[in-house]
Amino acid sequence: MSSIILDKRLQTAGDMVRPGKRVVDIGTDHAYLPIYLIENKICPSVIACDIAEGPLGSAVHNIDAYQMTDYIAVRQSDGLQSVKETEAEDIVIAGMGGELIASILHAAPWTKNPSYHLILQPMSMADYLRKFLLSQGFSIEKEKAVTVGKHVYTVLSVYYSGEQKDCGLFYSVVGEIRKDKSEDGAAYLKKCAGRILKIANGLKQGGKPEEAKIYYELYHDITEGKDAAV
Ligand SMILES: C[S@@+](CC[C@H](N)C(=O)[O-])C[C@H]1O[C@@H](n2cnc3c(N)ncnc32)[C@H](O)[C@@H]1O
Repeated sequence: MSSIILDKRLQTAGDMVRPGKRVVDIGTDHAYLPIYLIENKICPSVIACDIAEGPLGSAVHNIDAYQMTDYIAVRQSDGLQSVKETEAEDIVIAGMGGELIASILHAAPWTKNPSYHLILQPMSMADYLRKFLLSQGFSIEKEKAVTVGKHVYTVLSVYYSGEQKDCGLFYSVVGEIRKDKSEDGAAYLKKCAGRILKIANGLKQGGKPEEAKIYYELYHDITEGKDAAV
């Protein structure tokens, strides 16, 4: 069996896992990430969870093929509902919308504990997720942008700090990406700026100049590389 090669998006999430920690992978689908983490001896065990039968079948097949049934448990679970808080320290939720990731965390209040490390990779609505996290007392330790084809995503490393914050518009849009000085970081900011400019133009054309002004200012803040305080 050849070694598992992750795509850049999942590899970035995998690189954030703390070595030696037990992992739960929510929405595992094919279980590539759990297999990679065990194959490379990054963590001792993984619980691979998915809500749907099809992906679970694919996970079971791949885990069997890689002879990793002693290390990876497969479990049907809606989010973290079938996971006990004592079973893992690092929680990966990748490849879903930001709103769904937020709802999964909301339904598992035990994650509000600084001993857990959350690795979150929203495919959309990252702004919503950042706002949710800060309002619930989670802190975004860092973010890493990752370009896949025409798309650019973010991967967030998150801990609970207990400090609830009302996150401003600027921070909700760019988060900690402004500290990612890579080409992918620049591409993410460019994508954000383009989206904000579109909103500003729409508001202006819709006869809302005051609201448009807020977005034009945000556009300039992003393109001029200003710091986004929370
Ligand atoms: C696009 S795949 C992502 C697979 C992998 N995590 C990745 O990032 O490549 C999304 C997976 O999330 C699962 N999923 C969706 N909602 C879920 C939920 N509430 N709880 C657990 N899994 C869920 C889907 O069944 C699907 O297998």
